[in-house]
Amino acid sequence: MTIRVRINGVDQELDVDPEMPLLWALRDVLGLTGTKYGCGQALCGACTVHLDGQVVRACVTPVRRAADRSVTTIEGLSKDGSHPLQRAWVDLGVPQCGFCQAGQLMSAAALLAEKPKPTNAEIDQSLAGNLCRCGTYTRIRAAVKKAAGLPEEG
Ligand code: FES
Ligand code: FES
Repeated sequence: MTIRVRINGVDQELDVDPEMPLLWALRDVLGLTGTKYGCGQALCGACTVHLDGQVVRACVTPVRRAADRSVTTIEGLSKDGSHPLQRAWVDLGVPQCGFCQAGQLMSAAALLAEKPKPTNAEIDQSLAGNLCRCGTYTRIRAAVKKAAGLPEEG
């Protein structure tokens, strides 16, 4: 079955099982490997992408749910790494192993799109579903605040 999905601004036709997890369609069919597989059970957030601007866990989202909708992955956050979050991530050296970071960035991007000046509590709440086994949470919060033009501390 052919499923039409707009991915990172480009219309794609996916000839796949509609029940295939969106994550596999992105990684295995389209080669967009920036989105990671962590738990496969909507528990870790490594696979977070945007579906019509809202965060979803691509590991448990069947590709049929994306039909005729718009998906943004880490590859589509900016063309050249110039998104304010990506710049802040680099400036503050946020990643450690890096595995969780695409998901962290996608959750943070959805937050800033909705709340350009988030409070600490709003940042923590929005990113609570994104686990980092390396414990980079303090730098993640500082980078979100830097990208938002807020003081990084406090
Ligand atoms: S891989 Fe999807 S939430 Fe963990
Ligand atoms: S940077 Fe290693 S899991 Fe987050």
